[in-house]
Amino acid sequence: MVDAAGAPGWAGIDASESAFWTVHQGDARDVDNLLSGAAADKNTPFLQTTITSPPYATLVDYGSDNQIGFGQSYEDYLESCKSIFQSLYRWTLDTGSMWVVADSLLERRPKKGKPSRLVPLPFELAAQAESVGWILREVVIWRKDRTRPWSHRGKLRNGFEYVLFFVKSNNYVFNEDRLRDTGNLKSWWVKYPERHNPWGMSPDNVWEIPIPVQGSWNDAAFRHACPFPPELVRRMVLLSSNEGDVVFDPFAGSGSVVNGATREGRKGLGLELNQDYVARFHDQVRLENQVKPEPKPVGLMTQRLLELRMLKYPKELAKQLLRGGFTSGQINAVLMDVKSVNYKPARTSYGAIECSVIIDDGVTEADRERLLLLLQDVMKKAPLSKYGLEAECGLVRARDVERAIDGKDVSVYTKGRTWYADLVLPSHEVEGWIRQAGTPTVVPVLSPLHVQQSLEESL
Ligand SMILES: C[S@@+](CC[C@H](N)C(=O)[O-])C[C@H]1O[C@@H](n2cnc3c(N)ncnc32)[C@H](O)[C@@H]1O
Repeated sequence: MVDAAGAPGWAGIDASESAFWTVHQGDARDVDNLLSGAAADKNTPFLQTTITSPPYATLVDYGSDNQIGFGQSYEDYLESCKSIFQSLYRWTLDTGSMWVVADSLLERRPKKGKPSRLVPLPFELAAQAESVGWILREVVIWRKDRTRPWSHRGKLRNGFEYVLFFVKSNNYVFNEDRLRDTGNLKSWWVKYPERHNPWGMSPDNVWEIPIPVQGSWNDAAFRHACPFPPELVRRMVLLSSNEGDVVFDPFAGSGSVVNGATREGRKGLGLELNQDYVARFHDQVRLENQVKPEPKPVGLMTQRLLELRMLKYPKELAKQLLRGGFTSGQINAVLMDVKSVNYKPARTSYGAIECSVIIDDGVTEADRERLLLLLQDVMKKAPLSKYGLEAECGLVRARDVERAIDGKDVSVYTKGRTWYADLVLPSHEVEGWIRQAGTPTVVPVLSPLHVQQSLEESL
C-alpha cells in the first residue's frame, strides 16, 4: 500500500505510515473511494477481515448529521448497508471475511390491534450481504449479561445478539485452534485421555461475553451507545486473521475493533462519521489499550492430557499384542519414551514417542519374528492409529533393557493405571524388577515420564 494522501477521510496520511492504521473520520458510504486511496493499486484488495456493527436500524441517534439509520427510512437504511457490504466485498482478499454483529428489534408501529412484529434485522442484513456476493457461513449467538432494555409485555427479556460471519470463497482464514479451551472437560479425562483433545474443545457458536460497563475503559468515561467488549473482538480477530493482516471497521464507534486488532498485531483501520467519537478514540481509548497481552502459557490440563495419552499408548499396544495370541509371560513390559510434544495445536500430531516391547529372554526367534509383524500391524489399526501420536515401536529382550533405557530413571505403572506411577527405578534395577514382577495380568508400562494423577483431583 502506498499513497493515501488526498483520499477524503484519511487526513492525507500515507498508508505506509503507522499513523494511518487508526480510526479516521469519514462516511462509510464513501468506503470504496477511501479504500482505493489506501490500496497499492486501485484494483488490489487488501482487507483480511471486516468486523463491524452497523447502526441499530433507524432506532438509535448516534449524534451526527447524515448518519446511516436514524433519520432514514428502513428501506434506505438497508440499501445503504448493502452498498457498503458491496464495497467491502470488493476490497476483501479472497481468503477474507466479514463479521456483522446485529440485533433484532420490535416493529415500532404495529397495525391497530395487532402485536408488534419482531424484525429479524440480522437476517435482513444477511440477505443484503448475500445479494452482493458474500456467503453466510456461521451464526454465533453472543450471550450478554445485559442488553439494551427491550422487554415488552408478552415477550421474554432479550439476552443475546447475533454475530454473522460471511466469507468470499472456500479458502477463508479460520483459525479455530486458537480458541480451543480445556475448561469444560468431563471427570473421566484421567482414564480416557485419548478421548479428549489435549489442546481443548473446539470453540462452539455460543459465546458468553459480558458487555463492558460504560466508561470502564478509562477514568474519563467514553460513553458510546454500544462498544464491543474486548473479548468479543479478540475472538473474531484471532479466528479470521493473522499477524500483520488488515482488520477494518467502517462503523468504528468507540474504536474497539481497531484497538483489539492492533493489540493482536494486526493493522486496525476504522471509519466513523461522528467526529466526537473519533476525537475521543484518539484522546483516550487508543493509548490505553496498546499493551499486547502475554501469550497464554501452556495449560496444566493440556500438558497432563498429552502425558496421559502418551502413557496409555503402550498399555493399549500391549493389550493388542495379547489379543493377537501372545501372553504376559512373553511380553514382560513396554517401555515408552517421549521424543517430542506439541503443546500448541499442530496439524501433524500431538507428539512423537518411542515404544520398546520388552520380551522375555525365552521367547523363540520364530515367535519374535511373528510378534514383530503383529506389532507393525496393530500400530496401523484403530485404536492405536487414532491416538494422534507418531510412534516408533520395536522389540527388546529383557536382558538388554538397561541399555535400551540409556541410564535414565523410569517410572513404573502397573495394574493398568497409566496415570499413577507406583515407583521409580534407576535403569540398572529395571531388569531385576521385571524378573521378580512375575507374570502380571496387565503388562506394566515403564517410562522416564513421571505422572501421579489422582482420579478425583481436577486441574
Ligand atoms: C453500532 S455503532 C458501532 C459501535 C462499535 N462496534 C463499537 O464497538 O464501538 C454504529 C456506529 O456507526 C456510526 N455511523 C453512522 N453512520 C455512519 C456513516 N455513514 N459512516 C460511518 N459511521 C457511521 C455511528 O456514529 C456509530 O458510532
